[in-house]
Amino acid sequence: MAEIAIIGGTGLATLKNLKIKRREVIRTPYGEPSGPLLHGELCNTDVVFLPRHGRGHTIPPHMVNYRANIWALRETGVQKVIAVAAVGGIRQDMEPGRLAFPDQIIDYTWSRMHTYFEQDLSHVTHVDFTDPYSPELRSVLIESARSLQLEAVQDGTYGATQGPRLETAAEINRMERDGCAMVGMTGMPEAALARELELGYACCAVIVNWAAGRGPGVISMDDIEASLAVGMEKVRRLLETAIPMAAGCSA
Ligand code: HPA
Repeated sequence: MAEIAIIGGTGLATLKNLKIKRREVIRTPYGEPSGPLLHGELCNTDVVFLPRHGRGHTIPPHMVNYRANIWALRETGVQKVIAVAAVGGIRQDMEPGRLAFPDQIIDYTWSRMHTYFEQDLSHVTHVDFTDPYSPELRSVLIESARSLQLEAVQDGTYGATQGPRLETAAEINRMERDGCAMVGMTGMPEAALARELELGYACCAVIVNWAAGRGPGVISMDDIEASLAVGMEKVRRLLETAIPMAAGCSA
């Protein structure tokens, strides 16, 4: 049984080197996940793959059923999650095409279903979230990138915005003052829900554009797609090393 899952983000709706063995449809108390869980093998390691935005990329970030996705992964026996996510670069070293492994999060999202603690209110559980990402899984990502000599930024605060629109330049300035190094729309509540269910969770971010006001002009979808293609090829290579390594670590 696979104990590790990959949540695929924009540009990673399929994993071509994943040998799919079965598809599992899971219904959860929180509704439907983004699609069936794809059970397969990546480099001889059992893994579960779930494209966050659905197979045809039809679910925008603010409509993803994060609770159902994380619940379904836990239900099938997963203990560790590597989440792939496209982001915009705020800090100077966050150049499009690079990978980044965030170590902190600031949540700017609103009105998303962000907790499992809402039905049985006999006890309210305040989970520790001081370090939102699993240090062990982050080390696996950092080590894998190093061994493959992939250009990757090893830390940074991920600012999670509501979307689907991109930010204004002023919003990005504020996020920079807050300490954000990158901005994306899917990091929360995914990471917090994984923590509530005690899953190890780390994020492999792919920088696909300069955040608003940080690049030479307006953000173009063509430029994003070009960086996505470069970045996701790196992610595929990274995962071939990281997944077998992560299967052996305690997260
Ligand atoms: N902002 C928010 N989310 C994103 C961006 C961005 O600039 N690029 C990719 N996802």
